[in-house]
Amino acid sequence: MEKRSVLPNNKLMKTQHLSENSELKAYIPDTVAESKSNLSAYLTRYRTVYVKPNNGTGGRGVIRVRIAKDGAYEYHLGLKRHAFRTFDGLYRSLGKITSKRTHLVQKGIPLLKIKGRPFDVRVMIQKSPEGKWEHTGTIARIAHPKRVVTNYHSGGTPIELETLLACFMPAKEIPAYVQNLNELGTRIAEHLYTGYPFVTAVGVDIGLDQDHKPWIIEVNTRPDPYIFKNLKDKRVFQKIIRYIGYNRLPKTADAAEPEGVKAP
Ligand SMILES: Nc1ncnc2c1ncn2[C@@H]1O[C@H](COP(=O)(O)OP(=O)(O)O)[C@@H](O)[C@H]1O
Ligand SMILES: [Mg+2]
Repeated sequence: MEKRSVLPNNKLMKTQHLSENSELKAYIPDTVAESKSNLSAYLTRYRTVYVKPNNGTGGRGVIRVRIAKDGAYEYHLGLKRHAFRTFDGLYRSLGKITSKRTHLVQKGIPLLKIKGRPFDVRVMIQKSPEGKWEHTGTIARIAHPKRVVTNYHSGGTPIELETLLACFMPAKEIPAYVQNLNELGTRIAEHLYTGYPFVTAVGVDIGLDQDHKPWIIEVNTRPDPYIFKNLKDKRVFQKIIRYIGYNRLPKTADAAEPEGVKAP
């Protein structure tokens, strides 16, 4: 029986834990703790990066930083863009924000866009009543026109993923493509669980780049179910709520997650 300790629930720890799985590592954008030198190195390497609070949710405090075509250093936070001539100028401003709490720096994924607005995908994976990790829902989110985050709670627009994909690939390729994302989500939940054994729902944010390659942007261990109310198929939301209810029930001694290490 593997040891089931609980890891700290923050973005850097979850990213590190997922990276320990060599198969999943290929889908994780390079990520490091934020510092002036790490930011400088990542900007030189990737030109566009995301700087995010290690403990954030809902897109709050998420900053896109980039070197623009004209060589200016700019960052976009909330509804505002700030431009500087030099990296030191940028960091005099940005460092005031990042020094208040721990942040990370992540390679920026050039997300697919619809009418100029980036979108990404939320995949919901839950423990089923049979105790298996099961994919229960998938939905896409289009960023608010003035923002660099797609979050529903930051003005993102939820929409059927298949509707968006129809703009980028032949209709006959869509079902297998979506199934592949859902299976990736399930593998993520199965691996995450080995470090976070009390989790019963995982909401994976998956970004799709210009080559349609999926990237794991973030994994949520307390995902919001309500975004799935926006799907045409009402059974999806009903099942998600049913599984949440089931997982809240006290389990029998046999099935319960113990405080310490479970007997083999
Ligand atoms: N590396 C990245 N590349 C492209 N977009 C990103 C990246 N990181 C975050 N984003 C955008 O910002 C949103 C919020 O980031 P996320 O890491 O999910 O933080 P939160 O916990 O606040 O949701 C993502 O859903 C995505 O739209
Ligand atoms: Mg997110």
